[in-house]
Amino acid sequence: MTSDIPLQILGGISAREFLRDYWQKKPLLIRQAIPSFESPISPDELAGLSLEEEVESRLIVEHGDSPWELRRGPFAEDTYQNLPERDWTLLVQAVDQLVPEVAELAEHFRFLPNWRIDDIMISFAAPGGGVGPHFDNYDVFLLQAHGRRRWRIGQMCDSESQLLEHGDLRILADFQGTDEWVLEPGDMLYLPPRLAHFGTAEDACMTYSVGFRAPSAAEVLTHFTDFLAQFLPDEERYSDADLLPAEDPYQIQSDALERLRSMLNEHMGDERLLLTWFGQFMTEPRYPERVQGPEIDEKQLLDALADGAILVRNLSARLAWSEIDLGLLLFASGQSRLLPAHLKELLKLLCSADALHSDNLGPWLNDEDGRNLVLQLVKQGSLEFADE
Ligand code: SIN
Ligand code: CO
Repeated sequence: MTSDIPLQILGGISAREFLRDYWQKKPLLIRQAIPSFESPISPDELAGLSLEEEVESRLIVEHGDSPWELRRGPFAEDTYQNLPERDWTLLVQAVDQLVPEVAELAEHFRFLPNWRIDDIMISFAAPGGGVGPHFDNYDVFLLQAHGRRRWRIGQMCDSESQLLEHGDLRILADFQGTDEWVLEPGDMLYLPPRLAHFGTAEDACMTYSVGFRAPSAAEVLTHFTDFLAQFLPDEERYSDADLLPAEDPYQIQSDALERLRSMLNEHMGDERLLLTWFGQFMTEPRYPERVQGPEIDEKQLLDALADGAILVRNLSARLAWSEIDLGLLLFASGQSRLLPAHLKELLKLLCSADALHSDNLGPWLNDEDGRNLVLQLVKQGSLEFADE
């Protein structure tokens, strides 16, 4: 089984061991997870991204206009000339959606469901820079990309943990350090959700955070019930045929709760709707405006492919698939599509392939369902033509 092979990215343990002993449970320091790793993007290029309108970026200046001053991008050209020598950090979100070579790093994490990956954030810190002791509600792999960073880890936290008053920075008032390491380029630290951590740049350094996503119970309930409610007619109501005479008309009796419970169970237990909602929710793009396709018809698509055009996944799109009794479900950037079972290998190809072209799509283009699916994904913007 491939899951039992020792992996360099996990420091020589297998995916199975990692998932059993560390994932969601405890931290793991991995020296040279990616040996001689070189960042595909330089600090200057990262700073360049933070000037762009559509890029989400933040600057944290430890001794700025206020302690732990948080500034939000896009930043002006001269921002970086006016920063102090030390103690600031630039954070740029979702660089994997902007730089294909950064997106490729996700290939190292194929032992986890792809739909659990959120984005790859990249930070650049001047010496001494950091974002303060904090915890996150999600798993993260912190890959050192350039320079050295000292990571300290501490206690497990939760929403009761005391924070300093710094607006949305969520800095812990009390950090109880347990371990610390200096990470060099290629080293990586895995942290489970809610573990306190505190990184400081030993020298000017760059760190990649491969972050994961897990909806909160509150989100699941509110979003799923909103989704369900669209399918429920107004006349479907609390009903109590065969009601027994009330002993006390002011009392809500347990039979009323039973009726409510069965009404809830009937809908909440609908597996197909639950799966449809979940697939749509987990593939919703972080920046929906980046997933917009062209007007194109079948003939134009087929001609382009016949001419050697290459389709790639839009870096901002998310794809996942699932199997149900009726066939297959493909989830693409927040939409779902019910498809016949014979398209299974095509769905796998669409989700995983780096590039789609007449060679690997070949036979599927002769299949009406297959052809139509590729066309719909191009029109939706989940697949796009690679730049020549
Ligand atoms: C950083 O890269 O500086 C911050 C990453 C984190 O602690 O979540
Ligand atoms: Co963090």
